Amino acid sequence: MNKVLVTGGAGYIGSHTVVALIESGYAPVILDDLSNSRIEVMNGIEKITGKRPEFHKINLTDRTAVDVFFNTHHDFDGIIHFAAFKAVGESVEQPLKYYSNNLGSLLNILENMEIHRIKNLVFSSSCTVYGEPDQLPVTEKSPIKKAESPYGNTKIISEQIIEDQTTIKKINAISLRYFNPIGAHTSALIGELPLGPPNNLIPVVTQTAIGKREKVVVFGDDYPTPDGSCIRDYIHVTDLATAHVIALERMLNHKQISNFESFNIGTGTGYSVLEVLNTFEKISGVKLNYEIGKRRPGDVIQIFADTSYANNVLGWKAKENLETMIRSAWAWEQNIPKLFKE
Ligand code: UD1
Repeated sequence: MNKVLVTGGAGYIGSHTVVALIESGYAPVILDDLSNSRIEVMNGIEKITGKRPEFHKINLTDRTAVDVFFNTHHDFDGIIHFAAFKAVGESVEQPLKYYSNNLGSLLNILENMEIHRIKNLVFSSSCTVYGEPDQLPVTEKSPIKKAESPYGNTKIISEQIIEDQTTIKKINAISLRYFNPIGAHTSALIGELPLGPPNNLIPVVTQTAIGKREKVVVFGDDYPTPDGSCIRDYIHVTDLATAHVIALERMLNHKQISNFESFNIGTGTGYSVLEVLNTFEKISGVKLNYEIGKRRPGDVIQIFADTSYANNVLGWKAKENLETMIRSAWAWEQNIPKLFKE
């Protein structure tokens, strides 16, 4: 069976991708330091797929530990590299934490790929590389802007480092630029599980609805958008997971046009924060306690994807819509107490 290494495979997007890999016949091996995930996630993966993936608790910035791992495990068809810190605000407060973790991990992976001749890499990138776009929707040819945060900068720099490795033909790589991943597996056995207070909109909403938090603060309603709140392209995490399997297979089947490719992974439709809150209320039947607050520094006003390149060239298209995304996120939040002793 084809083995795939998944760094950060116990995390939110990682765990859904591990399920998609198993369902497509791959044997994923997970590396994760559990810094923002819990080992119980393995139980969810096992219940969904009937298989418990191989798991190694390793911090990817620990060069010695990473080398020891690769000395005994290197027969991988490819690596899907998720492991990274992702809190935008924290990255502004502690930039070096983000540069050393996100870039250090990547370098250790790339060096071991070179040593052990592992050829294929799928990289977890972000629409944050486009900054505040001049034109909407954004295509893969839209300009890469100066990053708004050290977190965003690690994604831009990581793409450049990876592209340099592909230029000298050390590896093939596909960078998937995610828009806003939300939702959970339909089984409600895995989902987003922030350790500590969440920063992202959907966990804030579902935690408020279930009573873990007092309220949702909408970060600004005076933006130049139809209802004044920011617009994002929300993408179901299970659609996103599928994109990783398709990207891996594109490299394995030698279908790449160039050794380094980037694809926008979104639905192509933008929704405002207020539309998300209204949809949540409609689906859950819960009246949300929310108020309008100040703008959050660093937020872009609006962004959504042109997905035609991903649709036509990668051969991937989002299937889910905002309602199914929110319904699954709410089912997951309600299931968390049954799965975890918090
Ligand atoms: C950000 C990053 C993205 C990154 C992701 C990871 C940018 C531009 N985007 O996405 O690259 O991958 O975090 O975590 O840096 N909102 C509220 N109240 C809240 C929380 C959010 O109104 O309590 C609003 C935000 O202003 C935004 C929307 O909800 O308009 C989505 O916010 P969030 O879920 O934090 O994601 P992004 O900031 O879009």
